[in-house]
Amino acid sequence: MEQKETVTLTDNSTGKQIELPILRPTNGTPTIDVRGLYRELGYFTYDPGFLSTASCRSSITYLDGNKGILQYGGYPIEQLAEHSTFLEVCYLLLSGDLPNERELKQFETIITRHTMLHEALKRFYSGFRRDAHPMAIMVGVVGALSAFYHDEIDIHNPEDRMIAAHQLIAKMPTIAAWSYRYANGLPFTYPDNSLSYPDNFLNMMFSMPTEPYKADPFFVKALDLIMILHADHEQNASTSTVRLTGSSEANPFAAISAGIASLWGPAHGGANESVIRMLVDIVESDKDVQYYIDRAKDKNDRFRLMGFGHRIYKNYDPRARIIRKTCHELLEHLGQDNEYQELFDTAMELERIALEDDYFVSRNLYPNVDFYSGIILLAMGIPLTMFTVIFALSRTVGWISHWNEMIQDPESRIGRPRQLYDGALPRDYVPLNKR
Ligand code: SDX
Repeated sequence: MEQKETVTLTDNSTGKQIELPILRPTNGTPTIDVRGLYRELGYFTYDPGFLSTASCRSSITYLDGNKGILQYGGYPIEQLAEHSTFLEVCYLLLSGDLPNERELKQFETIITRHTMLHEALKRFYSGFRRDAHPMAIMVGVVGALSAFYHDEIDIHNPEDRMIAAHQLIAKMPTIAAWSYRYANGLPFTYPDNSLSYPDNFLNMMFSMPTEPYKADPFFVKALDLIMILHADHEQNASTSTVRLTGSSEANPFAAISAGIASLWGPAHGGANESVIRMLVDIVESDKDVQYYIDRAKDKNDRFRLMGFGHRIYKNYDPRARIIRKTCHELLEHLGQDNEYQELFDTAMELERIALEDDYFVSRNLYPNVDFYSGIILLAMGIPLTMFTVIFALSRTVGWISHWNEMIQDPESRIGRPRQLYDGALPRDYVPLNKR
C-alpha cells in the first residue's frame, strides 16, 4: 500500500495533532490538502488575495513565476508564439492537445460559421451612451447572450459545453468590433468568412462601406500573436471569477460576462490602457523619467508604474519579452517617422532605469504583458479604450476552457470561502429613542 505523504500540524494551544495529505503536481509547487482542517482541528486558513492558495486542480496552463515560464498544455509560450496561430491555441486550450491538419481545419470552419450575432442584439448597443466605455458594452452584451442561449444549454452535457465555447470564441470579435463601431457612429460590419480570425476582426473594426479595405498583413500577424499571448494565464483574477460564477451552475455566457468585468480593473487587464496613459503623461510632461520612477517608489503617492510587477512572475514576464520584440519590429515596419517611437523609447528608458533601481529589483518588479502591448495596438490604429476589449477577446478561450474543466471536475463544488470575522460581538437591539 503506497504510504500517503502528509504534513503534521500541531495545535500548540491544545496539543492536538493532525496529518494533512500532500498532493503532488505533475509540475510545479506541491499543495497541502486542507479540506479536512476545519472538521479535524476547527480552523480556517487565512489567505487574502490567495497568495498561497490553490483553488482547484487544472491541466490547462502551467506558470513558473520564478523562472518566467508559461506553457499551454505543456507547450512553451515562446514556441507557440513563433509557430502557432490563435485558433490552433484555442483548440489546444479547449482539448489539451494540438490538432492535426483535419482537426484544425474542422475547428476553423466551426468558428468561422458562428461569428454572426442575432440581429436583435444590435438593438442592445443603441441603449448605451455614445461615450460608453467598450468594456461596459462588452459586459452588457456578452451577459445578454445568456438571454439568447439560456434554455438550449445543458451545462452537464459535454457537447453543449463545447457549442457554448465555440459560440463565445467565434462571436467575441463581432461583439468587440461592434462596440467600437457603435462608439464611433459607424455602421456595423458583418464577419467575412473568407478572412482569418485576426484579419476578420480588423476588417470588422476598420472597413468602410465607401471603399475597399485590406488590413496590413503585418498588423494581422501581430494581432494574432497578441491574442496567443493573452489566451490564458492559470488562475488569474478574471479566470477565478469565471470559475466561481460558474460553480453555481450559472449560464456560461453570464459567467464570461463576470470575467470581463473583473478583467476591466486597472490592476488586471485594464493595465494596458493605463500604461499608455502613463507613457503619454511622461512624454507630454516637463518631468523626466526618473521623476515618475521616484513617484512609483513613494508610499505616499498612489502612482504605480503601470505594466510593472506581477503576482506570479518574480522574473521577466515571458509574454512581455515576446511583445517587446514584436513592438520593435512593428515600429521598424512603420518607419522611423512613426508617431509611436517616442512612447516605445520612453517605455524602454523606464524599464532600463527601473531594472537598475533597488526598489524594483528587491521586489522582483519586472515589465509584465501589459507594458508593451498597448504600443502595438496603438500603432495598429486601435484606440486606447479598446485595449482591454482585445485582452477580453483573447482571454475568452482561457475562461471558457477553465469553466469547462471545472464543470467536468468530480472534485468541483460551489465556491463558498469562509472569513476571519472581526465584527461586533452579540448585542441587543437599542430602540431609536435610546441611541
Ligand atoms: C495582469 O494574475 C495574472 O496572471 C494577471 C495577468 C493575466 O494574464 O491574467 O498576467 C494580467 O493583470 C498583469 C498585471 C497588470 N497590472 C499592472 O501592471 C498594474 C501595476 N502592477 C501592480 O498593481 C501589481 O504589481 C500587481 C497588481 C500586478 C501585483 O500586485 P501584488 O502581487 O498584490 O503585489 P503587491 O501590490 O503586494 O506589491 C508588492 C510590493 C508593494 O510594495 P511593498 O508594500 O512591499 O513596499 O511591490 C510594490 C507594492 O507597492 N509594487 C509596485 C508595483 N507593483 C507592486 N510599486 C510600484 N509600481 C508597481 N507597478
